[in-house]
Amino acid sequence: MNLFIKKPIDQIIAASEGGEHTLKKSLGPWSLVSLGIGAIIGAGLFSLTGIAAAENAGPAVVLSFMVAAVGCAFAGMCYSELAAMIPVAGSAYTYSYATMGEFIAWIIGWDLVLEYAVASAVVAVSWSRYVKSFLHDLGVTLPAQFAACPFDAVTLADGTQAHGIVNIPAMIIIVLISFLLMVGIKESAWVNSTIVVIKLAVVLIFIAVGIHYINPDNYHPFIPENTGKFGEFGLSGIMRAAGIIFFAYIGFDTVSTAAQESRAPHKDVPIGILGSLAICTVLYLAFSFVLTGMVNYQAMRGDAAPVATAINLTPHPWLQMMIKLGIIAGFTSVILVMLLGQSRVFYSMSRDGLLPKMFSDIHPRWRTPWRSNVLFMFFVSFFAGFFPISKLGHMTSIGTLLAFVIVCAGVMILRYTQPLLPRPYRVPCFPLFPFLGILVCLAMMTSLDADTWWRLLIWLAVGLIIYFTYSRFNSKLNRGG
Ligand code: ALA
Repeated sequence: MNLFIKKPIDQIIAASEGGEHTLKKSLGPWSLVSLGIGAIIGAGLFSLTGIAAAENAGPAVVLSFMVAAVGCAFAGMCYSELAAMIPVAGSAYTYSYATMGEFIAWIIGWDLVLEYAVASAVVAVSWSRYVKSFLHDLGVTLPAQFAACPFDAVTLADGTQAHGIVNIPAMIIIVLISFLLMVGIKESAWVNSTIVVIKLAVVLIFIAVGIHYINPDNYHPFIPENTGKFGEFGLSGIMRAAGIIFFAYIGFDTVSTAAQESRAPHKDVPIGILGSLAICTVLYLAFSFVLTGMVNYQAMRGDAAPVATAINLTPHPWLQMMIKLGIIAGFTSVILVMLLGQSRVFYSMSRDGLLPKMFSDIHPRWRTPWRSNVLFMFFVSFFAGFFPISKLGHMTSIGTLLAFVIVCAGVMILRYTQPLLPRPYRVPCFPLFPFLGILVCLAMMTSLDADTWWRLLIWLAVGLIIYFTYSRFNSKLNRGG
């Protein structure tokens, strides 16, 4: 058994074509850009911008968005090079199988569960909170104990305190989206595109209306002086804020997991990854500029809903409802695309024998890995319904950053080991850009707290146990398959 056995790229591509395990190829460039935007714009933009401005960067949070965008752009270019070259469903997992061998590939595939499945559960819990508040505004009150997990304290209608029982809305959204994913990639992409139009409209309306209520005084000082503590304003504050709002950019890489379902992956997947990243970057810069111009950064301290505060400054209270709708739409598509990515990564791992075969069973009519969708439906909805997982958001960030580092390294390794392979898209300024991608992502990883690192290590340790007790003995490559 060779831990570092590598899967030849021609074999990877050949295995993805034909046979009863083939996914349907129906996605065009717009669907891919839309998948990217679907996964990117979500909780991060609406809830973290204000916090990062108030506590770390002031109005210079706009610069933090730029820094994070630069880091993501390096990683996005690396994903594009590999995805156009190896257009299969496994994304970072498959790229590392080809470049660094089976063991690292397993670690990355396992790590991606943090980005995709854990993020889906975290976002589902936030979704439930916003839906509850939205319905409340419409005069419908959901019973508090059935919209919170047993670890959460809730206030009942009569004012008494109790514990939640189960978060039913969070479970419902996971179940609905899982069914949609089972029925078909085309249907899922269509629903995603519709939601994306709604959330883009909400962000654009906020920018277009808010720009008229900017008070230029709020931009002074643009970079508030550092308080003497690392991360509290000044240059270090901009960097810390970049690490926080990085969460808002997570998701563009999910496009690469849909590469196998793209009609022309060589051309369209880089368009999907870099196009969605570019559109979101422009929107994020404009959004954060308008928000910090409307509300003074100091006034956003401790304000969980700074966007609502900003809207209250305008004579358009209807915008409140629209923003909530935009947030709910945003969350919905994030869950959709993340669950899609999750099933596709496990599909690839299962085809390689590293996970049981059921994860790559394709439905004869829907042509989706439906059993995998069912399994994640149970797993993710159980966690969303019964566990206080909203605190695990940072695990998504650390898991994603680790994947980015490996992908950037993968580009460098392949350029040296297989320089002649056709590359429909090439990262410019090689090797500087992939190298900077690694540096920026490692810097952001180090800005995360010790608990998050511990959780990552424990998660990886569980992965190692599975690898050494199951995957290693079933690996098709190691068994000569
Ligand atoms: N980028 C996604 C969000 O902000 C994960 O919700």
